Amino acid sequence: MSIYSSSQSTLHIAIIMDGNGRWAVGRGLPRAAGHRAGAQAVRRTVEAARGLGVGVLSLFAFSSDNWRRPPEEVSALMSLFHHFLNAETERCIEHGIRLEVIGRRDRLDEPLRSAIARAEAATVSGPHLRLRLAVDYSGRDAILEAARRSASLSRDALGGALGPPVDLLIRTGGEQRLSDFLLWECAYAELIFSRRMWPDFSAEDLAGALESFRGRERKFGGVPCGMAAHKELWLD
Ligand code: IPE
Ligand code: IPE
Ligand code: MG
Repeated sequence: MSIYSSSQSTLHIAIIMDGNGRWAVGRGLPRAAGHRAGAQAVRRTVEAARGLGVGVLSLFAFSSDNWRRPPEEVSALMSLFHHFLNAETERCIEHGIRLEVIGRRDRLDEPLRSAIARAEAATVSGPHLRLRLAVDYSGRDAILEAARRSASLSRDALGGALGPPVDLLIRTGGEQRLSDFLLWECAYAELIFSRRMWPDFSAEDLAGALESFRGRERKFGGVPCGMAAHKELWLD
């Protein structure tokens, strides 16, 4: 039994949605086809997260280092993102999902910035799930920005300026690294690395990850639940 005791509604899951390119190349398709299939997986995952009582879902869609990709791939990703916002805003309103975009906006084009602002404003009162899409996002830059804006340099001040702590971080695609996602917020996140390529990620995969998470004992630097009472067992 896990000692995790926050209410379910505040559970924060973050996902590094990796593997779109390999999924496509393995099928003889252009990488952009993998990104389109990845967008379908986002829809499925958001729906599943809502059903599983997740409170906050942060999805890594485009890193600040992804600008290094070929311009055709970057523009395919940006137009997919724009299309996703336009197509999903209504559904978010219907399902009580609040949509937010985290990351830099100044390098996005104006139509996309306006689409983000519209989607955020239209969904602002969604009570069931906070969906955070990370676009042109860098965890290191987010920490620097929070430090620049903060009146004091304390954990509380910076933590407050950043997002909520991540409980469970999932990365698909088989790599076992953070690639600059939510570095501060993941201080005590449980980590799950899946070999599944993102376009194949299913509601069952999310439920399985959550089940594994619930079976873990989170200690936050303390001692396991019940262990303090039995510490003599560990002394000899
Ligand atoms: C994740 O899939 C999507 C983005 C980073 C935008 P990738 O495009 O990184 O897929 P792989 O890692 O090349 O397979
Ligand atoms: C991380 O994936 C970024 C996103 C999933 C958006 P990358 O594919 O860019 O990460 P690296 O390059 O393998 O570390
Ligand atoms: Mg990748």
